[in-house]
Amino acid sequence: MDLRHLSVDTGRLLLRPFIESDFPAMADMHSRADVVRYLPWEARDEATSRVVFERHRDTRLDVDGDGLTLAGIEKESGSFVGEFVLFLRSVEHRSGEVGYILHPDFFGRGYATEGARAMLEIGFEEVKLHRIIGRLDARNAASAAVLGKLGMRQEAHFVRNEQIKGEWTDEVVFALLVEEWAGLPHAK
Ligand SMILES: CC(C)(COP(=O)(O)OP(=O)(O)OC[C@H]1O[C@@H](n2cnc3c(N)ncnc32)[C@H](O)[C@@H]1OP(=O)(O)O)[C@@H](O)C(=O)NCCC(=O)NCCS
Repeated sequence: MDLRHLSVDTGRLLLRPFIESDFPAMADMHSRADVVRYLPWEARDEATSRVVFERHRDTRLDVDGDGLTLAGIEKESGSFVGEFVLFLRSVEHRSGEVGYILHPDFFGRGYATEGARAMLEIGFEEVKLHRIIGRLDARNAASAAVLGKLGMRQEAHFVRNEQIKGEWTDEVVFALLVEEWAGLPHAK
């Protein structure tokens, strides 16, 4: 599926493929301890962010493990606010996973929810997925609130099954089926 030219207007945001001028803001976001606190990787230096950035630009959804990562741009200011991802987890089972990282300058404005909703729409309406999950460190209350606002159900709570920043932590899994998506007020 060719998604290299995909761009989505979500109302306040434009989600589009990464371009070179996004790099400084993305690298700054990935370098911050407050951003990576509950993510399974350490704060990144510029060289590591560059590798990830190139991966973000080579976006595709063909085989298990592929990811579509889009930059979120605030329409009003043109600012980079963060990144939104849809992973293809299983072609056989038509399942995917949604994810998002915002720059702290843009926390608390509902942008994570707005952008992630568009990724669910792409997953269900364009990619024709059957089920999309969201996974998070159980301590990440802001992220749990985002998934709840999207209408996703909490399906699992795994106890101390992941090591994040050297600590054993609980992992929570939210999920949504396509038929549930179709019944939500914000779905098409
Ligand atoms: C998770 C993240 C995307 C949320 O961004 P955000 O801008 O706060 O998201 P939104 O504004 O769309 O919604 C957040 C909701 O969580 C609530 N919230 C924020 N911090 C909270 C906290 N510490 N405890 C409980 N709820 C919280 C907000 O009140 C808001 O709900 P509301 O609209 O009902 O008031 C952002 O914190 C982030 O990028 N964190 C770093 C990366 C990350 O953890 N990504 C997710 C990995 S699973």
